[in-house]
Amino acid sequence: MLIDSHGRKVSYLRLSITDRCNLRCLYCRPQSEWTFMPHEQILSFEEMAELVDVAKEAGVEKVRLTGGEPFARKDFIPFTGRLHAKYPDLDLRITTNGTLLSGRVDELREAGVSCLNISLDTLQRKKFEEITKVDAYDQVRAGIDACLAGGLRVKVNVVALKGINDDELPGFVDFARENGVDVRFIEFMPIGYQSRWSRENYWPAEEIIAAVEKLVPLEEVLEASRNSGPARMYGISGGSGRIGVISAVSNHFCESCNRFRVTSDGKLRTCLFSDREYDVRSILRDPGHTMQDLLDLFARANAEKPLGYRLLQDREHNQVCDRAMTAIGG
Ligand code: 5AD
Ligand code: SF4
Repeated sequence: MLIDSHGRKVSYLRLSITDRCNLRCLYCRPQSEWTFMPHEQILSFEEMAELVDVAKEAGVEKVRLTGGEPFARKDFIPFTGRLHAKYPDLDLRITTNGTLLSGRVDELREAGVSCLNISLDTLQRKKFEEITKVDAYDQVRAGIDACLAGGLRVKVNVVALKGINDDELPGFVDFARENGVDVRFIEFMPIGYQSRWSRENYWPAEEIIAAVEKLVPLEEVLEASRNSGPARMYGISGGSGRIGVISAVSNHFCESCNRFRVTSDGKLRTCLFSDREYDVRSILRDPGHTMQDLLDLFARANAEKPLGYRLLQDREHNQVCDRAMTAIGG
């Protein structure tokens, strides 16, 4: 078991499948002169599967596959299928931008996927292109519709951007209600290389909830699961969908942080707000390595896991982290 000096136990791994993405969301990646990591630096699916073995052994119960855009990597769905088959009791989740889902829902269901987190920051096609630099709004909406029609659960993640999508609250409330989905607003974090974060664009969770309450009566829902994460969720009276907020900045959840992140090139990060990395890949690629070597690295990393909000406070004005979010995995 990985328990650190603050009594926090790691039970959740976020694994970035690839740093590649077909979108360029303004909050995630630099808008120009961007190169992806060379292929040979990216962990193979075999190496990623071994990493999941180690995480399971260390007490991890939930794994989220993220990116970049995970569906942009060839054979991603068969990989998830193999993980589901090997670990039926593992809570395996996926975060995607939703652009590459149409026509793949049956394959996904057969691979054992039952729920997807889909990022969608606007319900307007033109604005979608402004935020992501690609005219793919219709693709994402078709992907969401296909998932819902195919019986997959969908959670929509919206990065809360004041002056950009704060005028769309009524639309998102209707969207949640009509489709019976969770819509979760994530506070914009000043993270990543060349982040475009600014005070003007920061829209705090409290303000979001106050604004939604002016539109519809809300009822806070207490999440039952220990792994349900830092979202605060509210049921909308008279509908099946829910609205939620993730106060990633105003009330960061360091004390209850239960997660590790591994980048697609095999670097373990214990905190979103720290650039400290542990080299998992070189152990994985050492022919003589044992599972214990990897468990030891996990234990050492966990013992040094910081309380990240202190780093955030220090670095709000000059950005936290020198890797783009697309490489860290959100
Ligand atoms: N602030 C908040 N959320 C972010 N994400 C990416 N960058 C940021 C940021 N700077 C989230 C997006 C995306 C997920 C992968 O990570 O919601 O959907
Ligand atoms: Fe791609 Fe997701 Fe980053 Fe947008 S937030 S650029 S969809 S990885």
